[in-house]
Amino acid sequence: GARGRARRGGSVTVVRVVCPGSFDPVTLGHVDVVRRAAALFDEVVVAVGTNPSKSQLFTPEERMDLLRRTVGDIPGVRVEGFSGLLVTWCAEQGVTAVVKGLRGAKDYDYEEPMAHMNAHLTGLDTVLLPTHPQWSYVSSSLVKEVARGGGDVSDLVPAVVLEALRARH
Ligand code: PNS
Repeated sequence: GARGRARRGGSVTVVRVVCPGSFDPVTLGHVDVVRRAAALFDEVVVAVGTNPSKSQLFTPEERMDLLRRTVGDIPGVRVEGFSGLLVTWCAEQGVTAVVKGLRGAKDYDYEEPMAHMNAHLTGLDTVLLPTHPQWSYVSSSLVKEVARGGGDVSDLVPAVVLEALRARH
């Protein structure tokens, strides 16, 4: 098929990457990164984890449901949940690299130690994709704050998320 890279021996290797995050909720910035990862790699697993230092609006199940309704029909993309260490889960899932979006230098400062730690632990590599400037100021945290205050986030999140935010407030 079109997916998978032929190797010299005739066997085919599939490059499977993970887009991990809390996705509380998924924004159009996330969607941009997942789409681009799907264009670059054979398989993309969007993995919903829990960052204990962030407050949550949606349950992990709700976040996965919103993601499936948003990126679930992109070819090569599937949505899963994970707990524990990302490197352990990636080893179990045959994932060879992490793909994350970078909005700017602050994101780099946040991602760099995690990328080095993951590489130190299992050799898990990280690919950082600069996000489209259109989404450079968009974060789940700000989207939640603005939506809570009654502001308009309709250009920043998928329609299903807008609906879910309205139902929640
Ligand atoms: O939405 P976020 O904050 O970018 O998500 C961060 C997340 C969940 C991907 C990150 O905190 C993570 O990988 N957590 C899993 C636990 C783990 O492996 N911690 C060590 C990272 S070096």
